[in-house]
Amino acid sequence: MEIFKLSALCLFPFLLLSAIAVVAGDELTTYVVHVQTQENHVFANADDRKDWYKSFLPEDGRLVHAYHHVASGFAARLTRRELDEMSAMPGFVSAIPDQMYELQTTHTPLFLGLNNAEQGQGWRSLSSDRGAGVIIGVLDTGVFPDHPSFSGDGMPPPPAKWKGRCDFNGSVCNNKLIGARSFVSSSMSNATNSFSSNDWRVPPVDDVGHGTHTASTAAGAVVPGAQVLGQGMGDATGIAPRSHVAVYKVCGEEDCAGADILAGIDAAVADGCDVISMSLAGPSVPFYQDSMAIGTFGAIEKGVLVSMAAGNSGPNASSVANVAPWILTVAASTMDRAIRSTVRLGNGLFFHGESVYQPTTSRSTYYPLVYAGASGKPFAELCGNGSLDGMDVRGKIVLCVLGSGPDRNITRVLKGAVVKSAGGAGMILMNTFAQGYNTFAEAHVLPASHVNYAAAEDIMSYVKSAENPVGQILFFGTRLGMSPAPSIVFFSSRGPSLQNPGILKPDVTGPGVNVLAAWPFQVGPPSASVYPGPTFNVISGTSMSTPHLSGIAAFIKSVHPDWSPAAIKSAIMTTADVTDRAGNPILDEQRVPADLFATGAGHVNPERAADPGLVYDIDPSDYVAYLCGMYSSQNVSVIARRRVDCSAVTAIPESMLNYPSISVTFQQTWNWSTPIIVERTVKNVGEVPSAYYAAIDMLDDDVIVGVYPRELVFTEANQEQSFKVFVWPRQNGGKVLQGALRWVSETRTVRSPIAISFA
Ligand SMILES: *[C@@H]1O[C@H](CO)[C@@H](O)[C@H](O)[C@H]1NC(C)=O
Ligand SMILES: *[C@@H]1O[C@H](CO)[C@@H](O)[C@H](O)[C@H]1NC(C)=O
Ligand SMILES: *[C@@H]1O[C@H](CO)[C@@H](O)[C@H](O)[C@H]1NC(C)=O
Ligand SMILES: *[C@@H]1O[C@H](CO)[C@@H](O)[C@H](O)[C@H]1NC(C)=O
Ligand SMILES: *[C@@H]1O[C@H](CO)[C@@H](O)[C@H](O)[C@H]1NC(C)=O
Ligand SMILES: *[C@@H]1O[C@H](CO)[C@@H](O)[C@H](O)[C@H]1NC(C)=O
Ligand SMILES: *[C@@H]1O[C@H](CO)[C@@H](O)[C@H](O)[C@H]1NC(C)=O
Repeated sequence: MEIFKLSALCLFPFLLLSAIAVVAGDELTTYVVHVQTQENHVFANADDRKDWYKSFLPEDGRLVHAYHHVASGFAARLTRRELDEMSAMPGFVSAIPDQMYELQTTHTPLFLGLNNAEQGQGWRSLSSDRGAGVIIGVLDTGVFPDHPSFSGDGMPPPPAKWKGRCDFNGSVCNNKLIGARSFVSSSMSNATNSFSSNDWRVPPVDDVGHGTHTASTAAGAVVPGAQVLGQGMGDATGIAPRSHVAVYKVCGEEDCAGADILAGIDAAVADGCDVISMSLAGPSVPFYQDSMAIGTFGAIEKGVLVSMAAGNSGPNASSVANVAPWILTVAASTMDRAIRSTVRLGNGLFFHGESVYQPTTSRSTYYPLVYAGASGKPFAELCGNGSLDGMDVRGKIVLCVLGSGPDRNITRVLKGAVVKSAGGAGMILMNTFAQGYNTFAEAHVLPASHVNYAAAEDIMSYVKSAENPVGQILFFGTRLGMSPAPSIVFFSSRGPSLQNPGILKPDVTGPGVNVLAAWPFQVGPPSASVYPGPTFNVISGTSMSTPHLSGIAAFIKSVHPDWSPAAIKSAIMTTADVTDRAGNPILDEQRVPADLFATGAGHVNPERAADPGLVYDIDPSDYVAYLCGMYSSQNVSVIARRRVDCSAVTAIPESMLNYPSISVTFQQTWNWSTPIIVERTVKNVGEVPSAYYAAIDMLDDDVIVGVYPRELVFTEANQEQSFKVFVWPRQNGGKVLQGALRWVSETRTVRSPIAISFA
């Protein structure tokens, strides 16, 4: 897989969720309504179910989506008064105002996109047959189907279970792109405002690029000669190049509605997808109010693995999204490449930064340096449109600070456009402390260099102290072997999870910085040479790491078709790398060791994940026991899509779910002379016979962690063995302790991170 480094945080595709205000009165608002039949009635067919849904509605034409597989309910346009009336009807359970997810990139159409490039090495040692026989459903902005990444050449037909359809006309779909549908309700006309009629056939064209990028990252075909503005030349390939792709457009140009995403999940499950990839993130709400959590629970009950973005709200603590334990929650980290753009100052000091736009510049010419914030105007240092008014920057290199401003719409490429239109000769894009050592290589419209915080401080002190500060920007192309790599990127959202602190989130990290994949059009400044051949782009986000993990899950599924989503997740997590390429602990954006709330189990290692030795499996009914430990019967029933009586279920605390990682919290009221005991069960999916010995990595003296038994012997395939982990705190330290449990055999290590918190 070719992956390029990209530089921009705000430019890239991240999806932000903002709840739409519910308006009182007669205005129509879309609600996701959950309903339940008496006695868990089973409908003969989809039409019967839909008729029942319609019986809740005040009139025809209000139904937006009827859900059949992953939710018991529908989306409908209702007034507040109608909703009140509906809530008194038998069978009504709850209604959630639809939530919108915004696609941040679409606010920057004039910038010809994000781009940058740098070649990233994927996992070349794996066979090019990765993912055969597996279908990945990508819920995103649609797809640009003519890209060679979606060529069906050499692909076998989809497996017989495939029931989906292609709403592109003619022969656009093929054995690679096997399905394509749109669920964007905002594009429905009022006259035909129901998808449930089954005649809604709109081609899921990608007007943004995000969906084309994520789908090709997960399962794109091998395409030689990939590049962005001439950088990062090489073969582009998806992580699972033999998997089939089904595209479900759930986002318009501006945003994505929760009701539409839920309809996309419903269809992907019905169509026969094995993996669902969703590069979306929303706010933190209880699972019974979270359409993503509800829909994905239905998916995993039907054996479909769901991979979702941890979110781009880092590095603040507890910013992680998509935290339900049945979801694979994916953080983002760097790769070992840079597209080098170097700042040289008049005093001889130089600083390496990045840019994918690499024009030829003179090594003998220096330009005056000017700090955009020198005017003292609010936010002028961000180089937003208008901020340079009244400043003479003609022929100068302008120093702009990273940051998207109060309206969150000042992208990094826009800053360059503002400098350029004011007559600037170049731009130095400077990190603030929060972004630390991360830089992005992007398709700026003028000579530019994005430098880290340490460089920014040195450059600023030179500009402030020198009488006539001057500098130049020089370009050195794509560099490999950068260190440290991988490292957690600043924007990757962090745990602990607010909804369920007893489950360690995110789960795992993968490449999400400067990732090269298919794009519908050429990016870069209008003056850039036109590069023939297919178009690519380099962008960053947990949106980018998510489809890497989706592709890896597809690869594991193709090797182990009978594994459950939980088993695949376990395999990915217990084999993840906890050190970087140099063998040191994985660092974060400040170059200090990243904690478990940043890395989860570590950086995915696909080869080892395909052969984990032991797995921590979870039956869907275990999640119901877990949910009953958190919520009321009524709340659990919404998620389970059927009446659940929690008093008849043996509820378990979060930490007792058979999760591949361990997270325990000591409350103030804890009896300090007793341990927390956590039980786990592992299944042998490796050699027979085999023996594993427990090892505990816990450096802190404030806690003692024990395991019983300390040896697990397996004499049969798929044999299960249980063990207990005891956590004795020595004192209420008021801090977070981190370590790991390793089950070690002659050939393998099965590792579970352990997080211990004191409330
Ligand atoms: C297919 O759709 C495209 C636009 O989506 C349209 O331009 C073209 O005419 C259509 N072709 C056929 C054969 O209908
Ligand atoms: C649907 O009807 C409402 C009310 O008549 C109108 O405000 C809205 O613009 C219409 N939407 C579309 C997509 O036609
Ligand atoms: C992150 O934390 C910092 C410092 O505590 C705070 O100033 C900032 O507003 C937080 N950001 C978000 C998005 O919550
Ligand atoms: C950013 O948002 C503000 C306020 O909505 C608006 O005035 C400004 O034009 C926007 N800038 C861009 C580049 O979209
Ligand atoms: C800045 O805003 C003006 C007025 O809205 C617009 O004409 C111009 O294109 C913008 N400049 C850039 C670099 O986007
Ligand atoms: C879920 O639980 C909350 C709080 O316990 C309660 O207010 C709500 O009505 C419950 N039911 C549903 C369906 O959300
Ligand atoms: C704490 O646990 C110990 C050991 O089980 C027990 O002897 C003691 O009574 C408990 N203390 C309290 C306050 O419950």
